[in-house]
Amino acid sequence: MTMHLAGAGPTEPSLESMAAEPMFTREYEARPAEFYQRLRDTYGPVAPVDVLGVPAWLVLGYTQALDVLQDRQGRWTKHISSWPAWSDGRVPADWPLRHAFGNDCLLVSDGRKADRLRSAWILGLRPYQDRTHRQARELENTVGRYADELIDVLSEGSSGTGWADLSAQYARPLPLMVLNRMIGFADDRGDDLLMDLWRAMDAGPEAVEAMGRMYTVTAETIEAKRKTPGEDLTSYLIGADPGLSTEDLCKELILAMSMLGDFTGTLISNTAAAVIGGDHSTRESLSAGMLQETVNRVAMANPPMANISFRFAQAPVRLGRFAISVGDPVFISVAAAHMDPVFTGHMNPDSITSSRAHLAWSTGLHGCLGRDLATTITTIAIGRLFERFSALKLALPADQLPWRSSPFLRSLRSLPVEYELSGPPPGARQPAGGAPGQPANAGAQPPRSRMWRFLRGLRKDAQ
Ligand code: HEM
Repeated sequence: MTMHLAGAGPTEPSLESMAAEPMFTREYEARPAEFYQRLRDTYGPVAPVDVLGVPAWLVLGYTQALDVLQDRQGRWTKHISSWPAWSDGRVPADWPLRHAFGNDCLLVSDGRKADRLRSAWILGLRPYQDRTHRQARELENTVGRYADELIDVLSEGSSGTGWADLSAQYARPLPLMVLNRMIGFADDRGDDLLMDLWRAMDAGPEAVEAMGRMYTVTAETIEAKRKTPGEDLTSYLIGADPGLSTEDLCKELILAMSMLGDFTGTLISNTAAAVIGGDHSTRESLSAGMLQETVNRVAMANPPMANISFRFAQAPVRLGRFAISVGDPVFISVAAAHMDPVFTGHMNPDSITSSRAHLAWSTGLHGCLGRDLATTITTIAIGRLFERFSALKLALPADQLPWRSSPFLRSLRSLPVEYELSGPPPGARQPAGGAPGQPANAGAQPPRSRMWRFLRGLRKDAQ
Protein backbone atom coordinates (compact mmCIF):
# COMPACT_ATOMS: atom_id res chain seq x y z
CA MET A 1 0.00 0.00 0.00
CA THR A 2 1.12 3.58 -0.49
CA MET A 3 1.58 5.84 2.51
CA HIS A 4 1.63 9.60 2.44
CA LEU A 5 4.86 11.15 3.62
CA ALA A 6 5.34 14.55 5.14
CA GLY A 7 8.44 14.77 2.92
CA ALA A 8 11.28 12.48 2.00
CA GLY A 9 13.65 12.14 4.95
CA PRO A 10 17.36 12.99 4.68
CA THR A 11 18.27 9.30 4.39
CA GLU A 12 15.81 8.58 1.60
CA PRO A 13 17.61 8.39 -1.76
CA SER A 14 16.09 10.46 -4.55
CA LEU A 15 15.29 8.83 -7.91
CA GLU A 16 18.02 10.79 -9.67
CA SER A 17 20.65 9.79 -7.09
CA MET A 18 20.06 6.07 -7.56
CA ALA A 19 21.97 3.81 -9.93
CA ALA A 20 19.00 3.05 -12.14
CA GLU A 21 18.73 -0.32 -13.89
CA PRO A 22 18.56 0.09 -17.67
CA MET A 23 15.36 -1.29 -19.13
CA PHE A 24 15.02 -2.66 -22.68
CA THR A 25 18.24 -4.62 -22.50
CA ARG A 26 18.73 -7.99 -24.24
CA GLU A 27 17.82 -9.66 -20.95
CA TYR A 28 14.55 -7.71 -20.79
CA GLU A 29 13.70 -8.60 -24.36
CA ALA A 30 14.63 -12.27 -24.26
CA ARG A 31 13.90 -13.24 -20.64
CA PRO A 32 11.60 -10.66 -19.07
CA ALA A 33 10.63 -12.95 -16.17
CA GLU A 34 14.27 -13.18 -15.09
CA PHE A 35 14.72 -9.43 -15.49
CA TYR A 36 11.70 -8.68 -13.29
CA GLN A 37 12.70 -11.27 -10.71
CA ARG A 38 16.21 -9.86 -10.42
CA LEU A 39 14.79 -6.37 -9.86
CA ARG A 40 12.27 -7.70 -7.35
CA ASP A 41 15.02 -9.54 -5.44
CA THR A 42 17.22 -6.44 -5.38
CA TYR A 43 14.72 -3.65 -4.76
CA GLY A 44 11.37 -5.15 -3.77
CA PRO A 45 8.11 -4.24 -5.52
CA VAL A 46 9.34 -0.88 -6.87
CA ALA A 47 12.70 -0.39 -8.59
CA PRO A 48 14.60 2.59 -10.02
CA VAL A 49 15.02 2.12 -13.77
CA ASP A 50 16.42 3.99 -16.72
CA VAL A 51 13.80 4.32 -19.47
CA LEU A 52 15.95 5.02 -22.51
CA GLY A 53 17.88 7.72 -20.69
CA VAL A 54 15.14 8.96 -18.35
CA PRO A 55 14.93 7.80 -14.70
CA ALA A 56 11.61 6.40 -13.46
CA TRP A 57 10.27 4.06 -10.79
CA LEU A 58 9.21 0.71 -12.21
CA VAL A 59 6.27 -0.78 -10.32
CA LEU A 60 6.66 -4.57 -10.24
CA GLY A 61 4.26 -5.39 -7.40
CA TYR A 62 0.62 -6.25 -8.09
CA THR A 63 -0.62 -4.50 -4.92
CA GLN A 64 1.40 -1.37 -5.67
CA ALA A 65 0.25 -1.31 -9.31
CA LEU A 66 -3.36 -1.64 -8.22
CA ASP A 67 -2.90 1.08 -5.66
CA VAL A 68 -1.63 3.59 -8.23
CA LEU A 69 -4.09 2.61 -10.98
CA GLN A 70 -7.12 2.70 -8.69
CA ASP A 71 -6.28 6.10 -7.22
CA ARG A 72 -9.38 8.26 -7.04
CA GLN A 73 -7.99 10.90 -4.69
CA GLY A 74 -5.78 12.62 -7.24
CA ARG A 75 -2.56 11.31 -5.65
CA TRP A 76 -1.26 10.49 -9.13
CA THR A 77 -1.68 12.26 -12.43
CA LYS A 78 -0.95 11.32 -16.02
CA HIS A 79 -0.56 14.91 -17.05
CA ILE A 80 2.85 15.65 -18.49
CA SER A 81 2.91 19.17 -16.99
CA SER A 82 3.31 17.50 -13.57
CA TRP A 83 6.65 16.07 -14.63
CA PRO A 84 9.36 18.60 -13.67
CA ALA A 85 12.00 16.87 -15.81
CA TRP A 86 9.79 17.40 -18.89
CA SER A 87 8.97 21.04 -18.09
CA ASP A 88 12.52 22.12 -17.23
CA GLY A 89 14.18 20.44 -20.21
CA ARG A 90 15.93 17.53 -18.48
CA VAL A 91 14.21 15.06 -20.80
CA PRO A 92 16.53 14.81 -23.83
CA ALA A 93 15.18 16.36 -27.02
CA ASP A 94 15.77 13.08 -28.84
CA TRP A 95 14.16 10.86 -26.17
CA PRO A 96 12.50 8.12 -28.24
CA LEU A 97 9.26 8.31 -26.22
CA ARG A 98 8.86 12.06 -26.66
CA HIS A 99 6.27 11.67 -29.43
CA ALA A 100 4.26 9.15 -27.36
CA PHE A 101 3.98 11.53 -24.40
CA GLY A 102 3.75 14.58 -26.65
CA ASN A 103 0.50 13.43 -28.35
CA ASP A 104 -1.70 15.26 -25.88
CA CYS A 105 -4.59 12.77 -26.09
CA LEU A 106 -6.73 11.00 -23.49
CA LEU A 107 -3.90 8.62 -22.67
CA VAL A 108 -1.90 11.45 -21.07
CA SER A 109 -4.84 13.51 -19.75
CA ASP A 110 -6.52 13.82 -16.39
CA GLY A 111 -9.32 15.65 -14.66
CA ARG A 112 -12.09 17.41 -16.58
CA LYS A 113 -10.40 17.05 -19.94
CA ALA A 114 -10.09 13.29 -19.46
CA ASP A 115 -13.74 13.03 -18.31
CA ARG A 116 -14.86 14.85 -21.42
CA LEU A 117 -12.75 12.74 -23.78
CA ARG A 118 -13.73 9.48 -22.09
CA SER A 119 -17.42 10.36 -22.49
CA ALA A 120 -16.90 10.99 -26.21
CA TRP A 121 -14.99 7.72 -26.57
CA ILE A 122 -17.65 5.71 -24.77
CA LEU A 123 -20.35 7.05 -27.11
CA GLY A 124 -18.11 6.81 -30.18
CA LEU A 125 -17.24 3.16 -29.56
CA ARG A 126 -20.71 2.06 -28.47
CA PRO A 127 -21.99 1.16 -31.96
CA TYR A 128 -19.05 -1.25 -32.30
CA GLN A 129 -19.11 -2.71 -28.81
CA ASP A 130 -22.82 -3.06 -28.15
CA ARG A 131 -23.93 -6.21 -29.96
CA THR A 132 -27.52 -4.98 -30.18
CA HIS A 133 -26.21 -2.37 -32.61
CA ARG A 134 -26.18 -3.23 -36.32
CA GLN A 135 -22.72 -1.72 -36.72
CA ALA A 136 -21.24 -4.19 -34.20
CA ARG A 137 -22.65 -7.18 -36.08
CA GLU A 138 -21.50 -5.79 -39.42
CA LEU A 139 -18.04 -5.26 -38.03
CA GLU A 140 -17.88 -8.88 -36.88
CA ASN A 141 -18.75 -10.08 -40.40
CA THR A 142 -16.22 -7.71 -41.89
CA VAL A 143 -13.43 -8.90 -39.59
CA GLY A 144 -14.16 -12.49 -40.63
CA ARG A 145 -14.07 -11.51 -44.29
CA TYR A 146 -10.79 -9.60 -43.96
CA ALA A 147 -9.31 -12.59 -42.10
CA ASP A 148 -10.32 -14.86 -44.99
CA GLU A 149 -8.85 -12.46 -47.55
CA LEU A 150 -5.53 -12.40 -45.72
CA ILE A 151 -5.46 -16.18 -45.44
CA ASP A 152 -6.20 -16.39 -49.18
CA VAL A 153 -3.32 -14.06 -49.96
CA LEU A 154 -0.82 -15.83 -47.73
CA SER A 155 -1.70 -19.27 -49.09
CA GLU A 156 -2.26 -18.25 -52.73
CA GLY A 157 -0.31 -20.40 -55.15
CA SER A 158 0.37 -23.08 -52.53
CA SER A 159 -0.70 -26.66 -52.92
CA GLY A 160 -2.48 -26.52 -49.60
CA THR A 161 0.57 -26.59 -47.37
CA GLY A 162 3.25 -23.97 -46.86
CA TRP A 163 5.04 -21.55 -44.64
CA ALA A 164 3.82 -18.16 -43.43
CA ASP A 165 4.66 -15.41 -40.98
CA LEU A 166 1.37 -15.05 -39.13
CA SER A 167 2.50 -11.81 -37.52
CA ALA A 168 3.40 -9.84 -40.67
CA GLN A 169 0.93 -11.55 -43.01
CA TYR A 170 -2.08 -11.80 -40.72
CA ALA A 171 -2.05 -10.42 -37.17
CA ARG A 172 -0.66 -7.00 -38.05
CA PRO A 173 -2.56 -6.16 -41.27
CA LEU A 174 -5.94 -7.42 -40.04
CA PRO A 175 -6.64 -4.78 -37.36
CA LEU A 176 -5.19 -2.11 -39.65
CA MET A 177 -7.81 -3.04 -42.25
CA VAL A 178 -10.49 -2.82 -39.56
CA LEU A 179 -9.18 0.52 -38.45
CA ASN A 180 -9.19 1.86 -41.99
CA ARG A 181 -12.85 1.00 -42.28
CA MET A 182 -13.77 2.21 -38.79
CA ILE A 183 -12.20 5.64 -39.21
CA GLY A 184 -13.89 6.03 -42.56
CA PHE A 185 -10.96 7.17 -44.68
CA ALA A 186 -11.83 7.90 -48.29
CA ASP A 187 -11.59 4.75 -50.42
CA ASP A 188 -8.68 5.93 -52.53
CA ARG A 189 -6.56 6.84 -49.49
CA GLY A 190 -6.93 3.62 -47.53
CA ASP A 191 -4.13 1.60 -49.01
CA ASP A 192 -1.40 4.23 -48.73
CA LEU A 193 -2.56 5.05 -45.24
CA LEU A 194 -2.26 1.48 -44.08
CA MET A 195 1.33 1.43 -45.24
CA ASP A 196 1.97 4.75 -43.44
CA LEU A 197 0.41 3.39 -40.28
CA TRP A 198 2.71 0.45 -40.47
CA ARG A 199 5.74 2.72 -40.96
CA ALA A 200 4.70 4.95 -38.04
CA MET A 201 4.23 1.99 -35.73
CA ASP A 202 7.57 0.47 -36.58
CA ALA A 203 9.17 3.77 -35.50
CA GLY A 204 11.82 3.37 -38.21
CA PRO A 205 13.49 6.14 -40.24
CA GLU A 206 10.31 6.87 -42.23
CA ALA A 207 8.10 7.09 -39.14
CA VAL A 208 8.08 10.86 -38.68
CA GLU A 209 7.13 11.59 -42.29
CA ALA A 210 4.51 8.84 -42.24
CA MET A 211 3.03 10.28 -39.05
CA GLY A 212 2.90 13.74 -40.68
CA ARG A 213 0.96 12.36 -43.65
CA MET A 214 -1.38 10.51 -41.30
CA TYR A 215 -2.12 13.70 -39.38
CA THR A 216 -2.92 15.52 -42.61
CA VAL A 217 -5.23 12.82 -43.98
CA THR A 218 -6.89 12.32 -40.58
CA ALA A 219 -7.56 16.07 -40.23
CA GLU A 220 -9.01 16.16 -43.77
CA THR A 221 -11.19 13.16 -42.95
CA ILE A 222 -12.50 14.85 -39.79
CA GLU A 223 -13.35 18.01 -41.73
CA ALA A 224 -15.13 15.96 -44.40
CA LYS A 225 -17.13 14.05 -41.77
CA ARG A 226 -18.19 17.29 -40.10
CA LYS A 227 -19.86 18.24 -43.40
CA THR A 228 -21.12 14.78 -44.31
CA PRO A 229 -21.28 12.40 -41.35
CA GLY A 230 -21.06 8.68 -42.06
CA GLU A 231 -21.33 5.48 -40.10
CA ASP A 232 -17.81 5.49 -38.71
CA LEU A 233 -15.88 6.19 -35.53
CA THR A 234 -14.86 9.66 -36.71
CA SER A 235 -18.48 10.73 -37.24
CA TYR A 236 -19.57 9.09 -33.96
CA LEU A 237 -16.88 10.97 -32.01
CA ILE A 238 -17.85 14.26 -33.67
CA GLY A 239 -21.51 13.53 -32.90
CA ALA A 240 -20.66 12.65 -29.29
CA ASP A 241 -18.97 15.98 -28.66
CA PRO A 242 -19.26 18.46 -31.56
CA GLY A 243 -17.22 21.00 -29.56
CA LEU A 244 -14.02 18.97 -29.86
CA SER A 245 -11.62 20.67 -32.26
CA THR A 246 -10.22 18.92 -35.32
CA GLU A 247 -6.82 18.94 -33.62
CA ASP A 248 -8.24 17.26 -30.49
CA LEU A 249 -10.04 14.65 -32.56
CA CYS A 250 -6.94 14.02 -34.64
CA LYS A 251 -5.02 13.13 -31.47
CA GLU A 252 -7.74 10.75 -30.35
CA LEU A 253 -7.86 9.03 -33.74
CA ILE A 254 -4.08 8.62 -33.68
CA LEU A 255 -4.56 6.96 -30.28
CA ALA A 256 -7.18 4.66 -31.85
CA MET A 257 -4.68 3.77 -34.58
CA SER A 258 -2.08 2.66 -32.07
CA MET A 259 -4.60 0.82 -29.86
CA LEU A 260 -6.17 -1.01 -32.75
CA GLY A 261 -3.23 -1.32 -35.06
CA ASP A 262 -0.48 -2.18 -32.65
CA PHE A 263 -1.99 -3.52 -29.45
CA THR A 264 -4.79 -5.53 -31.02
CA GLY A 265 -2.41 -6.96 -33.64
CA THR A 266 -0.12 -7.93 -30.78
CA LEU A 267 -2.91 -9.70 -28.94
CA ILE A 268 -3.80 -11.64 -32.10
CA SER A 269 -0.24 -12.83 -32.67
CA ASN A 270 0.39 -13.54 -28.97
CA THR A 271 -2.82 -15.60 -28.85
CA ALA A 272 -2.00 -17.45 -32.07
CA ALA A 273 1.51 -18.21 -30.76
CA ALA A 274 0.19 -19.44 -27.42
CA VAL A 275 -2.37 -21.74 -29.00
CA ILE A 276 -0.15 -23.05 -31.82
CA GLY A 277 2.82 -23.34 -29.47
CA GLY A 278 0.72 -25.73 -27.54
CA ASP A 279 0.41 -24.55 -23.98
CA HIS A 280 -1.77 -27.32 -22.61
CA SER A 281 -4.38 -25.20 -20.85
CA THR A 282 -4.66 -22.65 -23.68
CA ARG A 283 -5.33 -25.40 -26.24
CA GLU A 284 -7.80 -26.99 -23.89
CA SER A 285 -9.80 -23.81 -23.51
CA LEU A 286 -9.85 -23.39 -27.31
CA SER A 287 -11.12 -26.90 -27.92
CA ALA A 288 -13.78 -26.32 -25.31
CA GLY A 289 -14.97 -23.49 -27.56
CA MET A 290 -13.96 -20.87 -25.04
CA LEU A 291 -12.17 -18.59 -27.42
CA GLN A 292 -12.81 -15.44 -25.45
CA GLU A 293 -11.37 -17.04 -22.36
CA THR A 294 -8.31 -18.08 -24.35
CA VAL A 295 -7.81 -14.47 -25.39
CA ASN A 296 -8.24 -13.36 -21.79
CA ARG A 297 -5.65 -15.91 -20.61
CA VAL A 298 -3.13 -14.77 -23.19
CA ALA A 299 -3.70 -11.12 -22.30
CA MET A 300 -2.94 -12.06 -18.71
CA ALA A 301 0.07 -14.31 -19.42
CA ASN A 302 1.63 -11.94 -21.92
CA PRO A 303 0.01 -8.50 -21.68
CA PRO A 304 0.27 -6.68 -25.04
CA MET A 305 0.69 -3.41 -23.12
CA ALA A 306 3.47 -4.73 -20.92
CA ASN A 307 4.11 -1.32 -19.35
CA ILE A 308 1.51 1.39 -18.84
CA SER A 309 2.40 5.02 -19.52
CA PHE A 310 3.82 7.19 -16.73
CA ARG A 311 1.92 8.49 -13.73
CA PHE A 312 3.44 11.36 -11.72
CA ALA A 313 3.25 11.65 -7.92
CA GLN A 314 1.22 14.67 -6.79
CA ALA A 315 2.49 14.46 -3.21
CA PRO A 316 5.39 12.66 -1.51
CA VAL A 317 4.41 9.05 -1.08
CA ARG A 318 5.98 5.74 -0.04
CA LEU A 319 5.73 2.98 -2.61
CA GLY A 320 7.42 -0.33 -1.93
CA ARG A 321 10.70 0.41 -0.14
CA PHE A 322 11.13 3.91 -1.55
CA ALA A 323 10.03 7.46 -0.90
CA ILE A 324 8.63 8.85 -4.15
CA SER A 325 9.00 12.62 -4.53
CA VAL A 326 6.47 14.98 -6.11
CA GLY A 327 6.69 14.76 -9.90
CA ASP A 328 8.60 11.46 -9.97
CA PRO A 329 7.37 9.29 -12.86
CA VAL A 330 6.24 5.75 -12.17
CA PHE A 331 6.05 3.20 -14.93
CA ILE A 332 3.65 0.38 -14.15
CA SER A 333 4.74 -2.98 -15.44
CA VAL A 334 1.60 -5.05 -15.90
CA ALA A 335 3.77 -7.93 -17.09
CA ALA A 336 5.79 -7.87 -13.85
CA ALA A 337 2.70 -7.39 -11.67
CA HIS A 338 1.21 -10.54 -13.23
CA MET A 339 4.32 -12.48 -12.17
CA ASP A 340 4.16 -11.16 -8.61
CA PRO A 341 3.55 -14.05 -6.17
CA VAL A 342 0.82 -11.89 -4.60
CA PHE A 343 -1.07 -12.30 -7.91
CA THR A 344 0.07 -15.74 -9.06
CA GLY A 345 -0.53 -17.19 -5.60
CA HIS A 346 -4.26 -16.92 -6.23
CA MET A 347 -4.17 -18.64 -9.61
CA ASN A 348 -4.76 -22.27 -10.35
CA PRO A 349 -2.66 -22.95 -13.48
CA ASP A 350 -4.86 -25.90 -14.50
CA SER A 351 -8.10 -24.00 -14.19
CA ILE A 352 -9.99 -23.53 -17.46
CA THR A 353 -11.31 -20.17 -16.34
CA SER A 354 -8.75 -17.55 -15.44
CA SER A 355 -8.66 -14.53 -13.20
CA ARG A 356 -10.39 -11.42 -14.46
CA ALA A 357 -8.50 -9.44 -11.82
CA HIS A 358 -5.58 -9.03 -14.18
CA LEU A 359 -4.38 -5.63 -15.33
CA ALA A 360 -3.87 -6.17 -19.07
CA TRP A 361 -6.65 -3.63 -19.73
CA SER A 362 -5.64 -1.56 -16.72
CA THR A 363 -8.24 -0.63 -14.13
CA GLY A 364 -9.63 2.44 -12.40
CA LEU A 365 -10.32 5.83 -13.95
CA HIS A 366 -8.17 5.14 -17.01
CA GLY A 367 -9.14 1.55 -17.78
CA CYS A 368 -9.23 0.58 -21.45
CA LEU A 369 -12.33 1.68 -23.32
CA GLY A 370 -11.85 -0.61 -26.30
CA ARG A 371 -11.50 -3.93 -24.50
CA ASP A 372 -14.61 -5.54 -26.00
CA LEU A 373 -13.71 -4.41 -29.49
CA ALA A 374 -10.14 -5.72 -29.21
CA THR A 375 -11.37 -9.01 -27.75
CA THR A 376 -13.97 -9.44 -30.49
CA ILE A 377 -11.49 -8.79 -33.30
CA THR A 378 -8.95 -11.14 -31.74
CA THR A 379 -11.52 -13.86 -31.10
CA ILE A 380 -12.71 -13.78 -34.71
CA ALA A 381 -9.13 -13.66 -36.03
CA ILE A 382 -8.12 -16.73 -34.02
CA GLY A 383 -11.37 -18.53 -34.83
CA ARG A 384 -10.83 -18.06 -38.60
CA LEU A 385 -7.25 -19.32 -38.36
CA PHE A 386 -8.33 -22.58 -36.79
CA GLU A 387 -11.25 -22.89 -39.19
CA ARG A 388 -9.19 -22.35 -42.33
CA PHE A 389 -6.12 -24.38 -41.36
CA SER A 390 -6.32 -28.03 -40.42
CA ALA A 391 -2.78 -27.89 -39.04
CA LEU A 392 -0.57 -25.07 -37.82
CA LYS A 393 2.86 -25.71 -36.39
CA LEU A 394 5.46 -23.27 -35.14
CA ALA A 395 8.41 -23.18 -37.55
CA LEU A 396 10.71 -22.30 -34.62
CA PRO A 397 10.82 -23.63 -31.06
CA ALA A 398 8.54 -21.43 -28.93
CA ASP A 399 11.46 -20.15 -26.85
CA GLN A 400 13.25 -18.98 -29.99
CA LEU A 401 10.45 -16.79 -31.33
CA PRO A 402 11.82 -13.25 -31.85
CA TRP A 403 10.25 -10.52 -29.71
CA ARG A 404 10.02 -6.91 -30.72
CA SER A 405 11.66 -4.51 -28.33
CA SER A 406 9.33 -1.73 -27.28
CA PRO A 407 8.89 0.26 -24.06
CA PHE A 408 5.15 -0.39 -24.06
CA LEU A 409 4.54 -3.50 -26.13
CA ARG A 410 5.38 -7.14 -25.68
CA SER A 411 4.97 -8.27 -29.23
CA LEU A 412 6.33 -10.92 -31.57
CA ARG A 413 8.52 -9.63 -34.36
CA SER A 414 7.46 -12.59 -36.47
CA LEU A 415 5.44 -15.75 -36.03
CA PRO A 416 6.72 -18.30 -38.55
CA VAL A 417 4.44 -21.30 -39.00
CA GLU A 418 4.03 -24.29 -41.25
CA TYR A 419 0.42 -24.65 -42.29
CA GLU A 420 -1.97 -27.07 -43.91
CA LEU A 421 -5.19 -25.63 -45.30
CA SER A 422 -8.41 -27.36 -44.32
CA GLY A 423 -10.05 -26.61 -47.68
CA PRO A 424 -8.84 -26.31 -51.26
CA PRO A 425 -6.14 -23.69 -51.91
CA PRO A 426 -7.52 -20.33 -53.02
CA GLY A 427 -5.96 -20.52 -56.52
CA ALA A 428 -9.27 -21.17 -58.30
CA ARG A 429 -11.03 -18.32 -56.53
CA GLN A 430 -10.94 -14.63 -57.38
CA PRO A 431 -7.76 -13.42 -55.67
CA ALA A 432 -8.03 -10.66 -53.10
CA GLY A 433 -6.68 -7.62 -54.84
CA GLY A 434 -8.44 -4.44 -53.87
CA ALA A 435 -7.74 -1.82 -51.30
CA PRO A 436 -7.72 -3.57 -47.93
CA GLY A 437 -10.05 -2.36 -45.24
CA GLN A 438 -12.71 -1.03 -47.54
CA PRO A 439 -16.29 -2.25 -47.47
CA ALA A 440 -17.10 -5.23 -49.69
CA ASN A 441 -19.30 -3.14 -51.88
CA ALA A 442 -16.53 -0.66 -52.59
CA GLY A 443 -17.06 -1.45 -56.26
CA ALA A 444 -14.35 -2.26 -58.79
CA GLN A 445 -11.10 -2.85 -56.91
CA PRO A 446 -8.07 -0.84 -57.93
CA PRO A 447 -5.82 -3.14 -59.97
CA ARG A 448 -2.67 -2.46 -58.00
CA SER A 449 -2.91 -2.37 -54.29
CA ARG A 450 0.28 -1.44 -52.46
CA MET A 451 -0.53 -3.40 -49.36
CA TRP A 452 -1.53 -6.57 -51.16
CA ARG A 453 1.63 -6.36 -53.23
CA PHE A 454 3.60 -5.95 -50.04
CA LEU A 455 1.86 -8.91 -48.42
CA ARG A 456 2.34 -11.08 -51.50
CA GLY A 457 6.03 -10.13 -51.45
CA LEU A 458 6.26 -11.62 -47.95
CA ARG A 459 5.23 -15.06 -49.19
CA LYS A 460 8.07 -17.51 -49.03
CA ASP A 461 7.61 -18.53 -52.65
CA ALA A 462 8.05 -14.86 -53.63
CA GLN A 463 11.43 -14.56 -51.91
C1 HEM B 1 -5.31 -5.74 -27.24
C2 HEM B 1 -5.63 -4.49 -27.40
C3 HEM B 1 -5.63 -3.48 -26.29
C4 HEM B 1 -4.99 -3.48 -25.08
C5 HEM B 1 -4.06 -4.54 -24.49
C6 HEM B 1 -5.34 -2.25 -24.41
C7 HEM B 1 -4.91 -1.91 -23.15
C8 HEM B 1 -5.12 -0.67 -22.58
C9 HEM B 1 -4.56 -0.24 -21.34
C10 HEM B 1 -3.64 -1.08 -20.45
C11 HEM B 1 -4.96 1.04 -21.14
C12 HEM B 1 -4.60 1.96 -19.96
C13 HEM B 1 -3.46 2.86 -20.32
C14 HEM B 1 -3.08 3.79 -19.20
O1 HEM B 1 -3.71 3.83 -18.17
O2 HEM B 1 -2.10 4.52 -19.37
C15 HEM B 1 -5.79 1.41 -22.25
C16 HEM B 1 -6.39 2.63 -22.40
C17 HEM B 1 -7.20 2.96 -23.44
N1 HEM B 1 -7.63 2.13 -24.46
FE1 HEM B 1 -7.03 0.23 -24.77
N2 HEM B 1 -6.20 -1.54 -25.22
C18 HEM B 1 -6.41 -2.26 -26.36
C19 HEM B 1 -7.22 -1.92 -27.42
C20 HEM B 1 -7.98 -0.79 -27.49
C21 HEM B 1 -8.85 -0.45 -28.59
C22 HEM B 1 -9.13 -1.33 -29.80
C23 HEM B 1 -9.35 0.78 -28.32
C24 HEM B 1 -10.31 1.60 -29.15
C25 HEM B 1 -10.16 1.84 -30.42
C26 HEM B 1 -8.80 1.21 -27.05
C27 HEM B 1 -9.07 2.41 -26.44
C28 HEM B 1 -8.46 2.85 -25.29
C29 HEM B 1 -8.59 4.21 -24.79
C30 HEM B 1 -9.40 5.32 -25.40
C31 HEM B 1 -7.80 4.27 -23.62
C32 HEM B 1 -7.56 5.49 -22.75
C33 HEM B 1 -8.37 5.42 -21.50
C34 HEM B 1 -7.97 6.53 -20.54
O3 HEM B 1 -6.79 6.92 -20.47
O4 HEM B 1 -8.86 7.01 -19.83
N3 HEM B 1 -7.99 0.22 -26.58
N4 HEM B 1 -5.89 0.36 -23.11
